[in-house]
Amino acid sequence: MSIYFNKDTREFHLQGMNVSYIFNILKNNHLGHIYFGKKINHRESFSHLVQYQTERLPLTTCVFEGDNFFSLETIKQEYPSFGNSDFRDPAFQILQDNGSRITNFEYVSHEIYSGKTKLQGLPATYSLNDQEVTTLEILMEDRLINIQIKLTYSLFEEIDAITRSVLFINKSNKNIALLRALSICVDFPDADFELLHLSGTWGKERHIIERELVHGIQSVSSARGASSAHHNPFIALKRKNVTENAGEIFGFNLVYSGNFLAQVEVDHYDVSRVLMGINPFDFKWILEPGEQFQTPEAVMVYSDQGLNGMSQIFHELYRTRLIRGKWKDKPRPILINNWEATQFDFDEKYIQELVEPAKEAGIELFVLDDGWFDRRNDDTSSLGDWTPDKNKLPDGIKGVADKINKKGLKFGLWFEPEMINKKSNLYKKHPDWLIHVPDRNPCHGRNQYILDFSREEVVEYIYKSISEILKDSSVSYVKWDMNRNMTDIGSANLPPERQQEVPHRYILGLYSLLERLTNEFPDILFESCASGGGRFDPGMLYYMPQTWTSDDTDAVERLKIQYGTSLVYPLNSMGAHVTAVPNHQVKRITSLSMRAEVAYFGCFGYELDLNKLAREEIEEIKGQIDFYKKYRELFQFGSFYRLLSPFEGNRTAWMVVSRDKKNAIVGNYRVLSLPNQGFESLKLAGLEPEYKYEISGSNPYYMYGSELMNKGICLKQSFSGGEFNNHDKSEDFKSEIFILKVN
Ligand code: DGJ
Repeated sequence: MSIYFNKDTREFHLQGMNVSYIFNILKNNHLGHIYFGKKINHRESFSHLVQYQTERLPLTTCVFEGDNFFSLETIKQEYPSFGNSDFRDPAFQILQDNGSRITNFEYVSHEIYSGKTKLQGLPATYSLNDQEVTTLEILMEDRLINIQIKLTYSLFEEIDAITRSVLFINKSNKNIALLRALSICVDFPDADFELLHLSGTWGKERHIIERELVHGIQSVSSARGASSAHHNPFIALKRKNVTENAGEIFGFNLVYSGNFLAQVEVDHYDVSRVLMGINPFDFKWILEPGEQFQTPEAVMVYSDQGLNGMSQIFHELYRTRLIRGKWKDKPRPILINNWEATQFDFDEKYIQELVEPAKEAGIELFVLDDGWFDRRNDDTSSLGDWTPDKNKLPDGIKGVADKINKKGLKFGLWFEPEMINKKSNLYKKHPDWLIHVPDRNPCHGRNQYILDFSREEVVEYIYKSISEILKDSSVSYVKWDMNRNMTDIGSANLPPERQQEVPHRYILGLYSLLERLTNEFPDILFESCASGGGRFDPGMLYYMPQTWTSDDTDAVERLKIQYGTSLVYPLNSMGAHVTAVPNHQVKRITSLSMRAEVAYFGCFGYELDLNKLAREEIEEIKGQIDFYKKYRELFQFGSFYRLLSPFEGNRTAWMVVSRDKKNAIVGNYRVLSLPNQGFESLKLAGLEPEYKYEISGSNPYYMYGSELMNKGICLKQSFSGGEFNNHDKSEDFKSEIFILKVN
């Protein structure tokens, strides 16, 4: 296992535990793609796997004079350009000062080394030691225009993931403009796939969408300035027979939080070209002499173990080699957030009243949400002015935090650092600090505007405002919110020809601020949020180890949201809270136990006024908190398996298994009560076949892992309703938890 180079045939082979990725240097010195899939033996040549054109083909254009066979249109490539015999969408395009967009990048040299180099200014996966990752860097050059491209491939040998990124280097003495600079291209030899993506909107983020590939282009993208609630920067190509545990699947995910494109183009030979990177729509980046442009990193995963196989690789990579800092492996606190309890309407006294029952119940962290800063009594004002409202909090943030700390809880604080209201001192002072174009009134979202993070002085001001508060008060947790998407894209600080650089410069400004703050306050747990899950991506997870999964906390809706999210992201990256009923988002009434039994499978917390609950409910909550504390490490660091999909029927089930496979917890959910359901069982996954598991309940019993995974737990029929049920009680929205342990 490693990265091999076959000198004579000029081939590269990235070989992981279960994956092979092979490509070569073509006769025009571009890079051709040979194979991506299940691990194959390394050998001295793979040239017999390359299918070159043997017939003269009408309407085909060719590269070399006198040679009617070498056409890039018929060759699978690694990082293709447009305009020299390939008519598909390219991976990049460079506008030169003479108006030409034609380039010819040829192989110059390569280097293979142990470990992985940090990407300048961008989030990326990392290696902890040089043994676990091997990197290949290939230098390509267009000698006519004196521009270089460095393609970087890193192979996580044990985890079986491959990452890629590209660096553009302007060695010439002229400006060039990148019109497109994607992170990856993979040409698959056929189109016998379904495209899977995670799409939705606010309140229903990351629903699973599957569609058959057809000829032409199919894509998901964002031009919202954020990765978005609408499409996640993730796609997978799966074979048509793929199940949760078997079959081939290829997953692609961009480590980036801004505008992206993930596209598959099926051509006339049924070749499927996957492209992924920064969205080329409304993008143009000028590279001056001596400057470089680094694309974000893309992660590529192959598994022949179905959706679960792919998810296990993403989870392992992100949990262990993307998320950083002190909180990476540390159990996350159970929190209570005041947003759904109070919205903007609170004062110090009320906050302290909320803390009392939280403390009694065993909650560990109190989070003060929106509304704590000057004149912020609704959403029309004050974003940008990060000074505490002395009417609500006479002793400031320090005062409220100290009092909460004294009661034994940690204190967390909400910020929305990227935003500004026109009703603010900041706007009075710097009306040009928001993203806008000259002489037009920009659109607002929730009465707010976006600060121009492409400007260093803006980022510096926000850094100072936030760090002052964090230094001054004992804040243990920060909720980093972002509640609108980008319109009227322009910066007062950039010349006309650079206006299309704004969205990417904004993201670079945001990343630089996050890097600074997370380094300066390493003990603080940061959770990202964008009206819920509007920016749930690996870029954010690099800085902030957890994300508020969705504003929609209804237990039934959360089944789909958490299930979809789990395709790519590990459980400990998902914030999951119990809230009041009727649920604020969908007005549904579900039981307190179902709300908790769904939220356990994530970073658990509450978001409601405990003072409004009955005594029995508080007692139930105490039990939930004790339960979660007991099994917290299993929920947050175990391996997650999906069992039944909410997208396919009335039931959902999933489970988490400890690394040593001796402990597991299963969540089983049924949305609507159905009559006379017969005898159902639930097949489990991820267990050790030979282990004898005790299954919790009033009459514990034992089953072998092999029985549990092949026959399944026999569910009680009463779970499906029956004649002598209590008629006053709804049988809709039911859930149950099974605890499995090997004694
Ligand atoms: C949107 C978030 O998703 C909510 O949780 C809450 O923090 C509000 N913003 C506050 O304005």
